[in-house]
Amino acid sequence: MSELEANTPALESEAAPEAAAPAQPPSTIIAPDEEGIARAVAALRAGELVAFPTETVYGLGADADNPEAVRKIFKLKGRPADHPVIVHLHDAGQLERYAAEIPPAARALAQRFWPGPLTLILRRRPEVPDVVTGGQDTVGLRVPSHPVARKLLEAFGGGIAAPSANKFGRVSPTTAQHVAADYGHHAPLILDGEAPAVGIESTIVDVTGETPRLLRPGAITAAQIEEVLGVAPAGPDADAPRAPGSLDKHYAPKAAVRLVKRTEMIELLASHRGRRVAVLALEINVPRLSPQLVRVMPAVASQYARELYANLRALDATGAELILVEQPPQTPAWAAVNDRLMRAARSGGDGT
Ligand code: TXA
Ligand code: MG
Repeated sequence: MSELEANTPALESEAAPEAAAPAQPPSTIIAPDEEGIARAVAALRAGELVAFPTETVYGLGADADNPEAVRKIFKLKGRPADHPVIVHLHDAGQLERYAAEIPPAARALAQRFWPGPLTLILRRRPEVPDVVTGGQDTVGLRVPSHPVARKLLEAFGGGIAAPSANKFGRVSPTTAQHVAADYGHHAPLILDGEAPAVGIESTIVDVTGETPRLLRPGAITAAQIEEVLGVAPAGPDADAPRAPGSLDKHYAPKAAVRLVKRTEMIELLASHRGRRVAVLALEINVPRLSPQLVRVMPAVASQYARELYANLRALDATGAELILVEQPPQTPAWAAVNDRLMRAARSGGDGT
C-alpha cells in the first residue's frame, strides 16, 4: 500500500463536520469478481446506478439506452440536466449503435488510442436519449481500458452512460472510498478495482467538424493526436457546446486553492502563520509545516496526475482554509495537470 492510500482514510476521518459523510453500509463497495459484476449488471438492467473504476477516474454509470436511469445520475450528482454524459463502450465495433457518422479521423483515433483515455465527440444517432446528449446533436463515446470497466461493459453488452462519479463541483474520485464518501447513505453500488492508472479525466476530441478540436486536455496529448491525424487539433470553439469541465467550480475542493511558485509559497506560509494552510508541493518537502498538511508530488506529469485528486481530497479533508499548490512546469507534458489545477484554483475564495 502506498503512503497515500495509507494516509487518506485517516485524514478523511478528521474532516470538518459538514464535510464528513455518514457511515457507509458495508455492502455498498463490492469486489469486481464474477458475482460482483453480475450484481452490477443486474442493477444496470434494472435501471439502477453503478459506480465503477476506469483508468481515468471512477464513473457513475447507468444504462445509456434507458433515459429514466440516466436521469438518476443527474439527480444523485446534483448536476444540471443539460450537461451531456459520455457513453462508455466495450469496443469500437459498438460505435454505430450511438454515432450516426464516423469520419476517418474518428476511426484513426479509435484505432490508435482505444481502449484508453480518449473520448470522441461524434454526430449522434437519433435514438440516443436526449438526457445523454444534453439535447445536442452529438454524443461523447469512449472505450475505457480499466479491466473492471471492460468486464462490466462486456457482461452488460450495451453502452454505459457515465460522468465522473464525484458530486457535481467536487474533485473526481479515484478510489471506491471517494465515491462512498461523496454520497454517504445514498451511495450506489460501487465496484472496487485497482487504482486508475491515469488519474485525471479523458482527453476529449470533437471530430464532427472540418478540424478536430481538443475540448479537454488529458493523458493523450495534442501532439499524439496530431501524430495520428497529421493536423494539430484546434482549441475549443467559442460557441462549442459548454462542457461542465469548463465551469469554474468543476474540479474544486472546499478549501480555496492557489497556484504559486515555491518562493511565493514560502512567503505566503510565513504571512499566513496561525491559519490552517495546506501545501501540495512539487518534489521537495516544505519545511516547518505539519506533515498532515503537506503532500509532496512526483515531478513526472503522468505520476502527478495519478495522485492529484486523492491528494486534493486528503488536504481538503484536513479542514485547511487554503491549499497552496506549487505551480508545475508550463510545458505540453503538464497541460492536462495544469488545466485541472487552474480550474481548482479559479473557484478559490481567497480573493486573489
Ligand atoms: O475520463 C472520463 O472522461 C471520465 C470517465 C468516467 O470516463 N468521465 C468524465 O465525465 O469525465 P464527465 O461527465 O465528468 O465529463 C465529461 C465531459 C463533460 O465536460 C461533458 O460536457 C463532455 O464530456 N461531453 C460529453 N458529451 C459531450 C458532447 N456531446 N459534446 C461536448 N461535450 C461533451
Ligand atoms: Mg466530471
